[in-house]
Amino acid sequence: MKKLKLLYEGKAKKVYQTEMAQRLIVEYKDDATAFNGLKKGTIVGKGIINNKMSNRLMQRLEDAGIPTHFVTELNDRETVVQRVSIVPLEVIVRNIAAGSFSMRYGVEEGTVFEQPTIEFSYKNDSLGDPLLNMDHAKALKLATDAEIATIRTMALRINEILKSFWAECGVTLVDFKLEFGRLSDGTIILADEISPDTCRLWDAKTGDKLDKDRFRRDLGGVEDAYAEIMRRLVSHDEK
Ligand code: TMP
Repeated sequence: MKKLKLLYEGKAKKVYQTEMAQRLIVEYKDDATAFNGLKKGTIVGKGIINNKMSNRLMQRLEDAGIPTHFVTELNDRETVVQRVSIVPLEVIVRNIAAGSFSMRYGVEEGTVFEQPTIEFSYKNDSLGDPLLNMDHAKALKLATDAEIATIRTMALRINEILKSFWAECGVTLVDFKLEFGRLSDGTIILADEISPDTCRLWDAKTGDKLDKDRFRRDLGGVEDAYAEIMRRLVSHDEK
């Protein structure tokens, strides 16, 4: 499969049209941004890690019955995915308070929830991805009731699968962001990526952050953290 026209360039990925109408090629970049693009940088090798990690995790989810956009990995940075129209919702699942949840509600980072918490934002960069509730989502016609119900069920199931997978790697899955898309027949599938850019992953023993918070918060050791989390995944799969 070949990259034809560049359809879209986001902060961390480029998306290309291919010779097949229902297939796209995603190319992962090393560019990193935070705070809606206010902070910019490069995480050397990130594109390769995010591509490979996202693909492995999506294959794992597929095996567990979750439909995803993943088709085939072409090379270090490029993957063929199913073409979808993205549902403009950022779906955030949290197991432990951190980041914007801790800030907004004054809850200490690290507070473990009794059950997972789902939160939705309106995927809209010019508005800064504002938090919204399901009435807002319906008023804005972002998704139907049935789609929202499907997305919630899938997000919770994905959390269960990923939480136990990362636990086997000695990693605590604190929270993560998902995006879903619609196929041409309306079927909802998981899209975008699952990577250290989009998840909070803490070493289960030391609590060390092995994700993009090292970049967001200037903690140092960013590349090492990405390499370490990838190493955990690869060594799990080799066992
Ligand atoms: P938050 O605590 O900053 O709202 O982030 C929650 C999770 O979502 C965290 O794992 C990082 C991820 N995330 C993204 O993938 N993209 C974003 O633009 C933001 C703000 C968070």
